[in-house]
Formats: sequence, structure tokens, C-alpha cells
Amino acid sequence: MSRAPSPALVSRVRGEAEAFFRSARGSHDWDHTERVLTLCLRIGRKEKADPGVLTLAALLHDIGREEEDRSRGRICHARSGAALAKRILERNGCDAAAVAAVIACIRTHRFRRGGAPRTLEARILFDADKLDSIGAVGVGRAFQFAGEIGARLHDKRIDVRKTKPYTREDTAYREYLVKLGRVRDRMTTREGKRIAAERHRFMADFFDRLNKETDGVL
Ligand SMILES: [Fe+2]
Ligand SMILES: [Fe+2]
Repeated sequence: MSRAPSPALVSRVRGEAEAFFRSARGSHDWDHTERVLTLCLRIGRKEKADPGVLTLAALLHDIGREEEDRSRGRICHARSGAALAKRILERNGCDAAAVAAVIACIRTHRFRRGGAPRTLEARILFDADKLDSIGAVGVGRAFQFAGEIGARLHDKRIDVRKTKPYTREDTAYREYLVKLGRVRDRMTTREGKRIAAERHRFMADFFDRLNKETDGVL
């Protein structure tokens, strides 16, 4: 980034970004963005990335989520969020190089449809966002989401191939088996890998214990 964003710019962007989360559910709310920002800056210090780009990218990375929810998943929030972010940053006088760097991060933070994250800052945002879905926070969010959609607390014998998302069988444990258990293998930075390995151990121990407790062994 040619010059660091001013505190005034960061504060205006933060205010505009937070407004997108007024009706967000607890599992995907503004607190997630704040945690991702903290992680981005932590990883960014280790990886010697641009803190200005990381700050703006983290604050804006999920502003398209409301649109994705309203379209029932047809619109990709990484793509729509990048377009929304571009307008916000330009309106607030952010320089062109910074706008381009930030929207590249947002567009690829999901990987699935946006393409692979390429720049260092894009890889850090990707890692930070996924790290917030594992460890103790990840376990908490998984149960909160399951509660939001009315899923069961736990079913150790679940067959993930025969169950569907957004049903009573879409438990936190199903999310762990399908997605969360694989996050550590998807990290793209060295520091991301290190944090993911540690968080993964805690999460695996938690579900192992949950299985034992529901069996009455512990
Ligand atoms: Fe996202
Ligand atoms: Fe996110």
C-alpha cells in the first residue's frame, strides 16, 4: 500500500461495514469480523504484511453476507462484498492501489468461487477467516449455528453422506466432520498453519470427549 489509511478513514469504513450486520445472527455477526481483524494483524506481524490493507480488508470482508442470505446462496458474498467495498473505499477517498489490494483480498477470502487467494494479504485474510471457525471459538460458533437452525445437540452415529445441511441433523459434530476438521489442511501461511494445528487439537479433543460423555464413558 502506498500510504497507510488514516485513522479517520478506518473509522468511517468500520462504521459503514458494521451497519451491514444489524440483523446478523450470532454465528456470523460483527464480532466475527472483529476477531478476524485481530487475527489478521497478529498473523500479518509475523508474515510482514501490510497492516493497512489487512485492516480494511478484514473490516469489509463479510459485508456481502446479508445479500447472499437474502438470495438464498445464489449470490456469492465474497464477490458482492468486493463490489460493495470498492464503492465504500472510493467514496471515502482511499487511494486506487489500496482499493485494488483490498478488494482482491475480499474476492478470494472464500476460495470456493472467488479463485485462490494470491497476495500475502489475501492469504492472511483467508487463513484468519477460517481460523475463526475452529478451536474453542469454532466449537462455540458451530453449536450456536446449530441452535439457530434448530438442529439436535449431538449424534455420534451420524452418517454425513445421508444427512443434509440446514436440517435437524445439521449438528455441530456434522459440521466438524464435513468442514471444520479439514480447515488446518487449507492454511496458506506459515503462521496460519501453526495456529490452526493448535486450535485443531483442542477441537478434536472436545468432540472426542463429547462422544465419550454421550456414551456414558466419561
Ligand atoms: Fe466470508
Ligand atoms: Fe468471515
